Amino acid sequence: MSSVFITGATKNTGLCIAEKFASEGYDVAISSRTEKELKRAVSYLSDKYKVKVKGYTLQLDSVSDIKNVFAKIEADFGGLDVFVPNAANLGVDYDMLTVTEEDYDAVIDVNLKGTYFCCQQAALIMKKQNKGSIVIISSIHSKECIWGRSLYTASKGGLNALMRSMAIELGPFGIRANCIIAGAIRTDRWDNFTPEQIAKRRANWPVGLESTGEDIANGVYYLGTDLSKTVTGTELTIDSGLLICLLPFNGGKH
Ligand SMILES: NC(=O)c1ccc[n+]([C@@H]2O[C@H](COP(=O)([O-])OP(=O)(O)OC[C@H]3O[C@@H](n4cnc5c(N)ncnc54)[C@H](OP(=O)(O)O)[C@@H]3O)[C@@H](O)[C@H]2O)c1
Repeated sequence: MSSVFITGATKNTGLCIAEKFASEGYDVAISSRTEKELKRAVSYLSDKYKVKVKGYTLQLDSVSDIKNVFAKIEADFGGLDVFVPNAANLGVDYDMLTVTEEDYDAVIDVNLKGTYFCCQQAALIMKKQNKGSIVIISSIHSKECIWGRSLYTASKGGLNALMRSMAIELGPFGIRANCIIAGAIRTDRWDNFTPEQIAKRRANWPVGLESTGEDIANGVYYLGTDLSKTVTGTELTIDSGLLICLLPFNGGKH
């Protein structure tokens, strides 16, 4: 049976990715910082899809914790076919001029260092199988910038570069590496927006709609499986057309 591991997958995009793979018959491993959230998501996924689902508490800023969790996953699933580093500190509202070392570590240690060592551990398992696929969830923030996101932007830009390095170094072991460059994704945070705020956001994008978690999951499934068996070192942009706009979208007229 094929298996997938998705970090930070008890809700939002990560849970949608878990659902996509479970619906296709994959055994699913998910992680979270909290046991309670894990239990709820594991019961939900296993009841709905009748596949093997296991949850692991994981602190992404701890390399020893990462190594322990991957060892458990290898023992529990007998290998690992697809790894999706999804969990992230969204790093909002950090004024660059006042960022502290603690602030820096809170974002970079989770998003970049944590993902790096997770990918290393995933690759060590996949190398034994001479096959595997790593799909990093990156962001449009790795390409374009707004105020207050310098740490998040640096972490996601670093992940794009890491992905390309992995594609080169791990290709000889049958391991592919790719990124999703995600634009706005609808999450539980959108429940707090008014219809006017949602309409204002949507007006910024040529497609006029945010992505759903399912839209992202479909891209991850493509990159994670043999549907894309000759694709590596690439970025799949799922962003409602935001990145192609040279000027604010304004309905396409200027
Ligand atoms: N939402 C968007 O519009 C958007 C746009 C572009 C890219 N993305 C990317 O898509 C992925 C999923 O985003 P999402 O919006 O669905 O995320 P989310 O639910 O806010 O976060 C995903 C998971 O990351 C874990 N997490 C959050 N803060 C953390 C921290 N400080 N330390 C360690 N883990 C932390 C949480 O898992 P636990 O609490 O269970 O540990 C959370 O469920 C992320 O990589 C994000 O950067 C999102």
